[in-house]
Amino acid sequence: TEPLRLGIAGLGTVGGGVVKIVRQKAALLQARGGRPITISAVCARNRAKDRGVPLDGYAWEDDPVALAQRDDVDVFVELVGGSDGPAKAATEAALRAGKDVVTANKALLAHHGQDLADAAEKAGSVLRFEAAVAGGIPVVKALTEGLAANDITRVMGVMNGTCNYILTRMESAGLTYDQAFAEADGLGYLEADPNLDVGGIDAGHKLSLLASIAFGTQVAFDAVELEGIGRVSIEDIRQAADMGYKVKLLGVCQMTGRGLEQRMSPCLVPATSPLGQLDGGTNMVVIEGDQVGQLVLRGAGAGEGPTASAVMGDVIDIARGTRVSTFGQPAASLAKATPAQTATP
Ligand code: NDP
Ligand code: HSE
Repeated sequence: TEPLRLGIAGLGTVGGGVVKIVRQKAALLQARGGRPITISAVCARNRAKDRGVPLDGYAWEDDPVALAQRDDVDVFVELVGGSDGPAKAATEAALRAGKDVVTANKALLAHHGQDLADAAEKAGSVLRFEAAVAGGIPVVKALTEGLAANDITRVMGVMNGTCNYILTRMESAGLTYDQAFAEADGLGYLEADPNLDVGGIDAGHKLSLLASIAFGTQVAFDAVELEGIGRVSIEDIRQAADMGYKVKLLGVCQMTGRGLEQRMSPCLVPATSPLGQLDGGTNMVVIEGDQVGQLVLRGAGAGEGPTASAVMGDVIDIARGTRVSTFGQPAASLAKATPAQTATP
């Protein structure tokens, strides 16, 4: 059987994890994907850097765009990051060249998802992004496959582990926001631009993707009502605790009479509820469907293993022969006929 050949752009936390899975689990991938899954070429900035995993046998490219266009690449795996720049240029180049694309890049998709989905459809390529939302939790597959017979009524959740860690430390250890922020920084949790985390932007990106998939609308990150955790004080947290609540950076999307409401903001949740009991750097997504009722998905929203697990789930689907893009699946395909419905704040 012909192998499915990957080109991996980005060899950081997630890219390194993907290379490890391909190298260490070849037999399982072949069994599950129905054909061998191999790596043809890789790309990062610093060729000399030790990635903790051998890269012998793979061609090296310095430029993600060149990697995306190689003849020996069937699936371009974009793990560079950033909403524009090389990630966008290379993803567009891959789709133009008729490659399938798997990405973990929520910033790219929140800003350019619709254009990329259109480019994929035009090229007959598959575009998948399970890892972009809540890392290891297969929430995209839950919405597009397992729950496809449902009208989704609401999706909500905690989608940024760093913010949940900071709020948890303020609540459980009595740290001020600045102390908890410094602790998260020391543990290496914060993005290079910390405002992506504490400003709620990263979580807002994820919410906009979930909303599009769940409600069949075009991705509309600009319509997310966004507030981060920077103004949450220790007094807020103590008062909430006195009333039996916890403060969580909660994303909510639901269809209302005014259109699709998307909010990402600090909220009070009952301390005894599943969301209230979510401590530390974990993620939780709660889905409500008209047939299934309420589902609670909880797990690691970041990290090498969990995120690479989600990337490889998409790769295995492509190896099996799926030709369906995430935005092209039943609910999301409605977006083609319906302009973005967004609530005015
Ligand atoms: P890292 O910063 O760890 O890795 C980024 C990689 O991209 C590095 O290997 C870097 O090269 C390479 N790179 C950056 N710019 C260029 C360029 N211009 N040309 C070539 N290579 C480049 O990021 P992560 O692995 O953490 O994240 C990757 C993606 O996955 C992002 O979109 C992120 O949002 C997403 N994601 C990450 C999660 C996580 O837990 N880390 C969870 C869910 C999603 P070099 O190593 O040489 O510097
Ligand atoms: N900064 C993100 C978080 C990483 O803390 O959840 C995963 O997207």
